[in-house]
Amino acid sequence: MPKIVALVACALCAVCLAACVPGPKMNYTAAQVKDIDDIHELMRYAYAETKGIWGLEGQEALAEPDYALLVKVGEELEAVGTVLGDKLGAERAEGFRVISRALAAEGGKMRDAAKGQDAAGAKAAIKAIGESCDACHKQFK
Ligand code: HEC
Repeated sequence: MPKIVALVACALCAVCLAACVPGPKMNYTAAQVKDIDDIHELMRYAYAETKGIWGLEGQEALAEPDYALLVKVGEELEAVGTVLGDKLGAERAEGFRVISRALAAEGGKMRDAAKGQDAAGAKAAIKAIGESCDACHKQFK
């Protein structure tokens, strides 16, 4: 019996992890990201937009639609990192801005690698992007 309770709790938890971050108010283009003034909104956007990229890091080969997604998300994350570093991070610790710039740089690298259909480069950037999210959350969230 306790086993079943644990299983149900686990299942609920998994659903929650996937669905408990509210979506952003709108589906911003990369060019619109600079107008976001609220860190929660920016993070919800970053979370929603990156959902599809994490699984690609472990994928053997990348196909045309994968590259197209990585170009789009790379551009968006370049903008997210820039807004975090230049605007929302202006009054925060220098370390916050350093990680923000790293996110922007890796977003740009992912876009460029995906444009050139460089799978290894794109996957390395996905990994580095995940590390930037984690590094900042560990220190500043
Ligand atoms: C430079 C710092 C920094 C980076 C990089 C960063 N975050 Fe965040 N994130 C934060 C902070 C700070 C908060 C907490 C905001 C608060 O509660 O005031 C946060 C909160 C969040 C939240 C909770 C949102 C909510 O509803 O409040 C999500 C989801 C999130 N981040 C996703 C991401 C993802 C995905 C990435 C990488 C693509 C990322 N973050 C990169 C600083 C960062």
